[in-house]
Amino acid sequence: MTLQNRLDNLYPRADEIPEPFRAGPAIEQRDYLVNGELHQWHGPLAPVLSPVSLQTDTGLESVVLGSTPLMDADTAMTALDAAVKAYDRGQGAWPTMRVADRIHHVETFLKLMREQRDAVVTLLMWEIGKNLKDSQKEFDRTCDYIVDTINALKELDRRSSRFELEQDTLGQIRRVPLGVTLCMGPYNYPLNETFTTLIPALIMGNTVVFKPAKFGVLLIRPLLEAFRDSFPAGVINVIYGSGRETVSALMASGKIDVFAFIGTNKAASALKKLHPKPHRLRAALGLDAKNPGIVLPDVNLDNAVTEAITGSLSFNGQRCTALKILFVHENVVGSFLEKFEEKLAQLKPGMPWEPGVSLTPLPEPGKTEYLQGLVDDAVGKGAKVVNEGGGTTHGQFFYPAVLYPVTPDMRVYHEEQFGPVVPVVAYRDLETVIEYVLDSDFGQQLSIFGNDSKQVGRLVDAFANQVGRININAQCQRGPDSFPFNGRKNSAEGTLSVHDALRVFSIRTLVATKFQESNKALISDIIHNRESTFLTTDYIF
Ligand code: G3H
Repeated sequence: MTLQNRLDNLYPRADEIPEPFRAGPAIEQRDYLVNGELHQWHGPLAPVLSPVSLQTDTGLESVVLGSTPLMDADTAMTALDAAVKAYDRGQGAWPTMRVADRIHHVETFLKLMREQRDAVVTLLMWEIGKNLKDSQKEFDRTCDYIVDTINALKELDRRSSRFELEQDTLGQIRRVPLGVTLCMGPYNYPLNETFTTLIPALIMGNTVVFKPAKFGVLLIRPLLEAFRDSFPAGVINVIYGSGRETVSALMASGKIDVFAFIGTNKAASALKKLHPKPHRLRAALGLDAKNPGIVLPDVNLDNAVTEAITGSLSFNGQRCTALKILFVHENVVGSFLEKFEEKLAQLKPGMPWEPGVSLTPLPEPGKTEYLQGLVDDAVGKGAKVVNEGGGTTHGQFFYPAVLYPVTPDMRVYHEEQFGPVVPVVAYRDLETVIEYVLDSDFGQQLSIFGNDSKQVGRLVDAFANQVGRININAQCQRGPDSFPFNGRKNSAEGTLSVHDALRVFSIRTLVATKFQESNKALISDIIHNRESTFLTTDYIF
């Protein structure tokens, strides 16, 4: 089948979709979770449209998956009030609960969450167009993350269960919660990335207001009962609606203590500025990135191409960690492009549930036009779309466009495309690449592809103070989740990993006393009589 044929037949008729993957009737979601109860929203709703369209007798028709509450600021504030009440200035049942008991609540949630795997995976495919394999992976990886978080907290708590004696001072140091947390995740990982802040925030004793991402909203619906039934009232509250209307009011109230946000640096800065006491606001931010892939002249080209293909095009390039610009040495750029185009042509466009599909429609309305604008700008300034069919659109589908040669005057050289456009720059001197990274507004990760230890070593040193992770002969990525995930400049604030997130959402508090008989006896009594949840030597197995 030619590419054109494939693209013409991209969208199925409703009856061609295999039964288990059908979207089902539209879900009119009016529920939202506040203070341990599912409330009904009676105001306006926002429609949820799928990036997947259907072929009908009268042409392509978009699929309405349902609708979600378009809440107002006052209703969003009821969620914040519930979280504030449950935290109760640090005196609430949740922030003062023994760690072992909090873990038990999270385990209950995990069990209930696992029961919703099929529902969530199907909605991931329909709402954001993520293919079946990656949707399943997102769900399973999130469950693994929760298990790892529980284990890491057990380990942390075990270490905190002992007293330390320093310079005649006896102390016990424990990590305690920070307060009320606002969690907002991105549409490309609406479950995983959100839960990598939400779960650590909860398990450390914070109370949470969670607003799902702009796409991938309905897929949180199957988890609302699990949240409600696993946590005490007010500990987790879920709101919906436009960020401008709801989240702005929450931030302006000054009652948010921790802001966990994955999105653009522009939105993060605007929201942070609304907080009346910025010094009291902790932030964990995952923001924009323009990760370069750098191909050196002495390189295993096959490996570089394989990694660059998945690096730039898995989930259609909609990963914050995607390779968003490729610098290829002029000696190898010809063969690199040839191999890249060959591999790209093997990527299968189609519907998310079809076996082996990797290129799918994009969830953001207007995205294909935006990408076309980037391509037109580059072509107008001397680049070519070098791959067959590059930039062909069909509904919300955009066939990847490889642009070459890309130069600094083109928008795509600087802008984060967050989609299937692959800009390739030919370079002669390493200085060109080093300058690009030094001058960039972003500093998340980069990839170096090469075999020459001298060159690779030099680049590692040049970039060590520029980005959060340098990948050698491998694409950029977040995992494994035990590794630190962060960024510099406009790319992030704070570091996340299973281990780090527990620290991001907590602070160490110390109980200390002079090492004297009377104090020793007092502390012993508190412990033996179990008169404190903080001062205890309980050991979690
Ligand atoms: O969108 C950003 C994600 O954190 C990337 O995660 O590298 O595992 O796809 P990933």
